[in-house]
Amino acid sequence: MAQSHKQYASPELLLDHLSNDDSSMESQRGTRGFILCDSAFRSVSAPVAYHELLNRLPVHWIDAGERCKSLEKAQDAWSWLEASGAGRFDTLIIIGGGTTTDLGAFVASTYKRGVNFILIPTTLLGMVDAAIGGKNGLNLNGIKNAIGTFSEPSEVRIDVNWLHTLPRREILNGWMELSKHALIRDKALWSEMQTLGPHDSGIDWSRFVQEGNAIKKEIVEIDFHEQGERKQLNFGHTVGHALESAAAEANIAVDHGFAVGVGMISALHWSVLNAEKITDQESLKEASETLKRWLKSESESAPYNWCIKQSPEHLWRFMLKDKKNKANTVLDVRLHEIGAAKWDCPIAENDFEIIWMSAF
Ligand SMILES: NC(=O)c1ccc[n+]([C@@H]2O[C@H](COP(=O)([O-])OP(=O)(O)OC[C@H]3O[C@@H](n4cnc5c(N)ncnc54)[C@H](O)[C@@H]3O)[C@@H](O)[C@H]2O)c1
Repeated sequence: MAQSHKQYASPELLLDHLSNDDSSMESQRGTRGFILCDSAFRSVSAPVAYHELLNRLPVHWIDAGERCKSLEKAQDAWSWLEASGAGRFDTLIIIGGGTTTDLGAFVASTYKRGVNFILIPTTLLGMVDAAIGGKNGLNLNGIKNAIGTFSEPSEVRIDVNWLHTLPRREILNGWMELSKHALIRDKALWSEMQTLGPHDSGIDWSRFVQEGNAIKKEIVEIDFHEQGERKQLNFGHTVGHALESAAAEANIAVDHGFAVGVGMISALHWSVLNAEKITDQESLKEASETLKRWLKSESESAPYNWCIKQSPEHLWRFMLKDKKNKANTVLDVRLHEIGAAKWDCPIAENDFEIIWMSAF
């Protein structure tokens, strides 16, 4: 997809170009900057390089989490842009994790029929997945990402300095989406991840983030509108989204990355049952055990226990509403082997019941 807007070498240069001061060149040309930012950064310090940007441009604060991915919050943001005088040629800078960038990208892609926007992901999950690939989504009636657009930002500014303040639980969430990328596409990366774990002090985040988002970019470049290849990125997501919907209904906190992790265990179990080679069955089982170990780690065991207690019938109710389905058939992703995925695989309710009941 062509990107016609300029990329800025640093937050300072970005500010120079988008400053709303009357003296700034871009302001005179009618290009000004507005920020939608995760409200966590009212109390948590942003990396120093971004202080000036946050101080000088008008900011609309977003309380992050699944609840911000709603039409109501989109309307608040549209109204704020309108009241602030944001025009068709202005730029919206969106700073935050995946829920903030999903909301912000939707707002930017629809305000005045679409304004230029820049994403600055601040979570690991955002850096390896949510901010990459030009999709956004809002939840509707308890269904994840039921509304959204395909719309590319002019720039995704990745800076691992944001990770210094990220809580352990959010590192685990991002690690799950990174695991997904490795499991569907990169056996060597998965082997390395298996020896480390999300909280290993020796992780070189710059390299891991770069490898994770390179996998996503490569897939998205082949199939931007998700007609085929891109569907493999949904590995673990059909069950993951069903768990998130069930959790929202029960008013229980189950994070997206975490739910996807549990969904991948279920999908790996399905893959074991369908794998032809014994060696593949063994490595798929081993992957499932590794994910369980990470998810069950001491501080994260409560949501894990809640997830695995859900009945397959209850989850199936949500799986039937998944937007990847065709003609009432649930279509999901499984692996042939580590690093190779197969998408559009039909799964029947009976089979899912057997898989879910024996996977944990
Ligand atoms: N559009 C896509 O292609 C795509 C892909 C994958 C996931 N997603 C979406 O991403 C969302 C999950 O994103 P997420 O896991 O980033 O959740 P999130 O945006 O809710 O952020 C998680 C928490 O971390 C806090 N936080 C963010 N950055 C921080 C930092 N640097 N320091 C301290 N705290 C910080 C937030 O305030 C929040 O409490 C889901 O809604 C999912 O559907 C979208």
